[in-house]
Amino acid sequence: MKPYRLLYPMRTYLVVAGRGRGTNVMAADWVTIVSAKPFMVGVAIAPERYTWKLIREHREFVVSVPGLDMLNDVWVVGTKHGPEKLRKTSIEFVPSKAVETPGIKGALANIECRVVDERTYGDHTWFVGEVVASSYREDAFSGDSPRIGAGFLAHASWTDFVTFEKRLYRPGS
Ligand SMILES: Cc1cc2nc3c(=O)[nH]c(=O)nc-3n(C[C@H](O)[C@H](O)[C@H](O)COP(=O)(O)O)c2cc1C
Repeated sequence: MKPYRLLYPMRTYLVVAGRGRGTNVMAADWVTIVSAKPFMVGVAIAPERYTWKLIREHREFVVSVPGLDMLNDVWVVGTKHGPEKLRKTSIEFVPSKAVETPGIKGALANIECRVVDERTYGDHTWFVGEVVASSYREDAFSGDSPRIGAGFLAHASWTDFVTFEKRLYRPGS
């Protein structure tokens, strides 16, 4: 048992970095909100990832929220190295609003970040990005809430993923 698995299930995201033909995507579970105002997001990325080099070079990244329908592509980008892997996926990019790194077409959301800090802890670098723009699918989010049945992905163990049931539980009821 890897001790970090005690924090699972965790949501799974995609991190896009680079631009043009050099754009790359990797899967990432270790993503969290760091600040609400200003909105900042942190991602833990190991230095051996190609994505790490691209974030270091361009100082920006996009966190894309994949749906269950993207699971096969999530697996390819989470197990293979470098932009050539994208030929094995159906991932298409869309221009971002505020950064040069593109978002992913059809993703439930694309969150555009500019790196404001980084620090290496152990075997991962924690990149903190200020969110400079975002976009989302209206069939996935409404008001301030996710539409829980939209197919948000969570990672249970290495090869196993889950999505959320539509039922909501409220404290006190
Ligand atoms: C579901 C899933 C979640 C992952 N989460 C992370 C993560 O949070 N941080 C990380 O450095 N690698 C993570 N990985 C591993 C990278 O996605 C993987 O090493 C990928 O091949 C790196 O691609 P790159 O070298 O093209 O950047 C994850 C892999 C999977 C399948």
